[in-house]
Amino acid sequence: MARSFISIKKFIKKPYSNILGYPNATNRQIKSRINELEKLKIKSICLTGPTTIGNLEILGKGYVGVVVLVKKGNKEFALKIRRIDSQRENMKNESVLLKLVNSINVGPKIIDSSKNFLIMEYIDGEKFSDWISMLKGVGSTSQLKSTIRSVLEDCFRLDQIGFDHGELSNISKHVIVGKNKVTLIDFESSSTKRRPSNVTSITQAFFIGSGIAKQVQKIYKNSSKEKIIGALKSYKQEKTRENFEKLLIILKV
Ligand SMILES: Nc1ncnc2c1ncn2[C@@H]1O[C@H](COP(=O)(O)OP(=O)(O)O)[C@@H](O)[C@H]1O
Ligand SMILES: [Mg+2]
Repeated sequence: MARSFISIKKFIKKPYSNILGYPNATNRQIKSRINELEKLKIKSICLTGPTTIGNLEILGKGYVGVVVLVKKGNKEFALKIRRIDSQRENMKNESVLLKLVNSINVGPKIIDSSKNFLIMEYIDGEKFSDWISMLKGVGSTSQLKSTIRSVLEDCFRLDQIGFDHGELSNISKHVIVGKNKVTLIDFESSSTKRRPSNVTSITQAFFIGSGIAKQVQKIYKNSSKEKIIGALKSYKQEKTRENFEKLLIILKV
């Protein structure tokens, strides 16, 4: 279906202004945000996606941002809009962190950013939790294994550069599965100062923790929790490729 893009000029008025200034902004704030978008050369926004604000469809919403599909030139991107009530003063920190992870091929590619906005590659796909719920039939085991493996490889590279994502225990929100690739998103809570625990957190979420682990177990029988925890312990002590690969073998991915 053809997507319909709405000019950003229309976002000055309700209901559209709710998107640029969620949950409540003054007229001045909205005007200044429209100016900011013009400087970023964003001309239109497409209201589509699985989440809604009022009756308007968007790509997603968290505590920091509201994410919508936009057009810049002829290309589509995801725009993360800083919420008015966000604890973050600007999008600078997140944009620096996203650039850093992009350098090791992790995360959506960052295009540009400003005080209240971050423009990045649009990841067309399903949240991991939705994706795994729909997974069935021939080939689902191998699809699941290659998806998990790809996420673990990203996490290993993050561990190697001393970067901690910070929210990987919540896989359902921060892993998007597309047709051709799997992408980690939301580096808003990330840090280069904490001890990285990406591989450990994601392994726990995939195999040991709550809901997702049960779904994974239904698709293929895994090693015992004791074995997994053992492999994780060795990996934690020494985050080498060798220990990482031993973990992959235990996880059967
Ligand atoms: N690059 C992207 N492409 C497509 N959807 C995205 C993208 N980035 C975020 N989203 C969607 O928007 C939601 C909120 O974004 P997120 O970065 O997690 O915001 P917050 O920092 O507020 O938690 C995500 O859960 C996801 O559904
Ligand atoms: Mg989030």
